[in-house]
Amino acid sequence: MPNRKILVTSALPYANGPIHIGHLVEYLQTDIWVRFQKQRGNLCYYVCADDTHGTPIMLRADLEGISPEQLIAHVGKDHQADFNEFGVAFDNYHSTHSQENKALSSLIYERLRDAGHITSRTITQGYDPVKKMFLSDRFIKGDCPKCGAADQYGDGCEVCGSTYSPTELKNAVSAISGAKPVPKDSVHYFFNLENFNDMLREWTTTAGHLQPEVSNKLAEWLAGGLNQWDISRDAPYFGFEIPDAPGKYFYVWLDAPIGYMASFKNLCDKQGLDFDEFWRKDSDAELYHFIGKDIIYFHALFWPAMLSGADFRAPSAIFAHGFLTVNGEKMSKSRGTFITARTYLNHLNPEYLRYYFAAKLSAGIDDIDLNFDDFSQRVNSDLVGKVVNIASRCSGFISKRFANRLSENCSEPELFADFVNVNETIAELYETREFAKAMREIMALADKANAYIDDKKPWLLAKEDGKDQELHGVCSMGLNLFRVLTTYLKPVLPVLVKEAEQFLNIAPQSWANEILFLGDHPINDFQPLMTRVEPDKITAIIEDSKENLEKTSNNTNVELKAKKFEAIADTIQIDDFAKLDLRIAKIIKAESVPEADKLLKLTVDIGDETRTVFAGIKSAYKPEELEGRLTLVLANLAPRKMRFGLSEGMVLAAGPGGTDIFVLSPDDGAVAGMRVK
Ligand code: MSP
Ligand code: ZN
Repeated sequence: MPNRKILVTSALPYANGPIHIGHLVEYLQTDIWVRFQKQRGNLCYYVCADDTHGTPIMLRADLEGISPEQLIAHVGKDHQADFNEFGVAFDNYHSTHSQENKALSSLIYERLRDAGHITSRTITQGYDPVKKMFLSDRFIKGDCPKCGAADQYGDGCEVCGSTYSPTELKNAVSAISGAKPVPKDSVHYFFNLENFNDMLREWTTTAGHLQPEVSNKLAEWLAGGLNQWDISRDAPYFGFEIPDAPGKYFYVWLDAPIGYMASFKNLCDKQGLDFDEFWRKDSDAELYHFIGKDIIYFHALFWPAMLSGADFRAPSAIFAHGFLTVNGEKMSKSRGTFITARTYLNHLNPEYLRYYFAAKLSAGIDDIDLNFDDFSQRVNSDLVGKVVNIASRCSGFISKRFANRLSENCSEPELFADFVNVNETIAELYETREFAKAMREIMALADKANAYIDDKKPWLLAKEDGKDQELHGVCSMGLNLFRVLTTYLKPVLPVLVKEAEQFLNIAPQSWANEILFLGDHPINDFQPLMTRVEPDKITAIIEDSKENLEKTSNNTNVELKAKKFEAIADTIQIDDFAKLDLRIAKIIKAESVPEADKLLKLTVDIGDETRTVFAGIKSAYKPEELEGRLTLVLANLAPRKMRFGLSEGMVLAAGPGGTDIFVLSPDDGAVAGMRVK
């Protein structure tokens, strides 16, 4: 078998929301393909990362009252837990907010710049004078200039379908602060995509690079001519600063695909692999990107152009897939069909969904539908009713009558050969991502195995005298056929197949071209490998998905309802709390710091000593209101040198700021110096 070197990626999920079952179409499709490649004996690496940069993530962190770094850290953890439980076996999962990505983004940018592919010029853009930031089209709303519909985005109207520039909107406001945007100039950096016209025309039409329908779509775009691509954003922006342009940041879509390389680089550094072997211009390794059809433009135009302009290899192919609908409609929060990976995991076996998607996926970009009736029916009838059933029908006799040992000889060599001989056909279907067809082939074999058992009727043989050998032969045959099926199903159902391997007492199965009959072979007791889908679990998933909506407003869209308060911080232990030395303090003196708009200088008595503390409460308190009152001070905070003196502790207060700041007070009876525990 050829030993290919393959690097595979799935699109990097945004770090501002949870993984949902729509995403899983992609991660499961990729994972099945990767597992297949590995089972075939190819050297295959599967890398991914969280896509962490950009305005929505910055605003979302703001809304939750945490830093973007904190946000991406906990979202990253959740994503990885979800993927892991769905059996998505990345060789490496990284983050675009990483040192590798920063270095590679700079390198690629510098190579493009030095080769003359970057230009800069001043553009005028809407600016939010309250939030002090430039507004992309998505963050400007107003009335449509064509039909007058209210509340439309800056780039197009969802009511009449017309497109326009945000300056044409009537009554435009910032979607973030509600302020009226003002036009403001700024220098932007552009990637000269038009330099790659010829290269892209050729790349997108070379057979194998793209699916035919994708290649046709791109031909239309290319015919329309390519524009310069704006790759910079102004501060404040959560991302990487452009090396030679302080205050300017790479647009998230510039560093996102470079995140594929960065994740692989991170893996190479951990495992001592050769990064260049996969990425240099003349690499003989294969590189595949699995993506959804919504991001073809970035992957099939910008990305190959960037790579080629920066002297790296281009992808071997881009595999796009369609979108998931649920019960025939777009996933919807109100219908309870916007189902997160976690909600699904709370109720159902992840391998059901792996199989269901496999049974629906093809190499094309058509949307795929999750219909819950169809889902239950397929899982119950194919996996439980057909595949697992073969083992449960045969294993009892082998255990009770033949001490868990399979017969020595194959009683039906032709039937066995029929099963083994389709292995290249099935392999080819996996290779070409025709998973639905592969599942059909496999289920046709399962039908054949069951028909064989129906025909031989082991339950009758077991009651007749002198039929022991025949019974042994039939049941051993049945289990051998089951074994072949599990080899074929392994990329889709890793957990079930692993348990089957334990039951059959065999080593992890590779995609052997010649699968040998297990003769005179000891097996283990059979345990049920999969149970039927329980209908009330599906109802529960839908209910929970509706509840989620009410309870958490888990919106990735920043304009939709903010939480009232910042999220509760990560759990700590009592020892963590014990580290805080909180004391009752008496404010003996309060003075304004004239040079600072926010600060008051407080002199506080904390029992055995007097301290100076600067507190940012000037906007809410007059100094004389504070003198004489008791409050709480964090007494063991490391002293901090400020411009106006040393601050030796911290006064505790609540509230968002401005005049809404509320200093804490203890109940009557407390005296300065008491520790708060
Ligand atoms: N962050 C970008 C990708 C950057 S890749 C350098 C992004 N993230 S995403 O979280 O919105 O989507 C991740 C992947 O999931 C994309 O390929 C997207 O097409 C896919 N899907 C998201 N919703 C989907 C469905 N409802 N159905 C199928 N795939 C979907 O795009
Ligand atoms: Zn309109």
